[in-house]
This record gives sequence, structure tokens and C-alpha cells, in this order.
Amino acid sequence: MTSHVVTLEWTDGSTQTIAVDENESVLDAAQRAGARLPYDCRKGTCITCVGRLLALEGEENESAEGGTERPPHAADAFTYRRAPAALTDEEQADGYVLLCIAHPQSDCRIKVGPRVRAEVGDSPWA
Ligand code: FES
Repeated sequence: MTSHVVTLEWTDGSTQTIAVDENESVLDAAQRAGARLPYDCRKGTCITCVGRLLALEGEENESAEGGTERPPHAADAFTYRRAPAALTDEEQADGYVLLCIAHPQSDCRIKVGPRVRAEVGDSPWA
């Protein structure tokens, strides 16, 4: 089974690197590894688990923190087991990803934690 190396990065600068199997969500793998991430519905509707893609394997894109260059699109790194209803197309283009239903397709680095939730709007489904 293929797995990908995903680095979780909290806004305080701490990090944890986990292995995520291709058929499990980032949230499931993080919990298996003992990482504490916020979540609620686990169905892609409440937006509580949102993270932001910072970089794909081999790429560094610090501009996701506020530079002029756009971060990688979430579709470049993840597939979803169901539609990410809580995110707008614009939010996905800005790298936001629902970790409860997202399966990584490449190694990547993701900003996580409750402060990421504060960066996006409310879910229309919550
Ligand atoms: S936990 Fe609700 S959208 Fe992921």
C-alpha cells in the first residue's frame, strides 16, 4: 500500500511528520500517530478540521504565509472521499483542505490547528 509523508505544522512552529496511507484521511493518520487536531463532523461539512497546504514534496512555498505568490492548490495534493462541501472553490485554490476526508496523493506539508480555522469563513452546512 502506498503511503505519503505528511508534515503537520502548527502555528507555533511545532511540527510532526506522519505517514498517511493512500486510502486513509490525514485526520485518521494523525490520530493514529497521536497528533491532536481539531475535528467535529468527520464528514466534510463543519470545516473544523481545515488545514492549509504549504508545500508539495520538493517544493518550498513560504508565501502561503502571506506573500504574493499563491500557495499550491489543494487539488494538487489531495483527493477527497466525498465532496468538500464546507470549502469554497476559492478556499481550495488557496490551499485549504478538509483533513477529515482528504487523502494525500504526494508528500506534503500542511499548516494545522484551530488558528487555520479562523482564516476561513463559516461552513454553509454547519
Ligand atoms: S471534521 Fe467537520 S469538516 Fe472535517
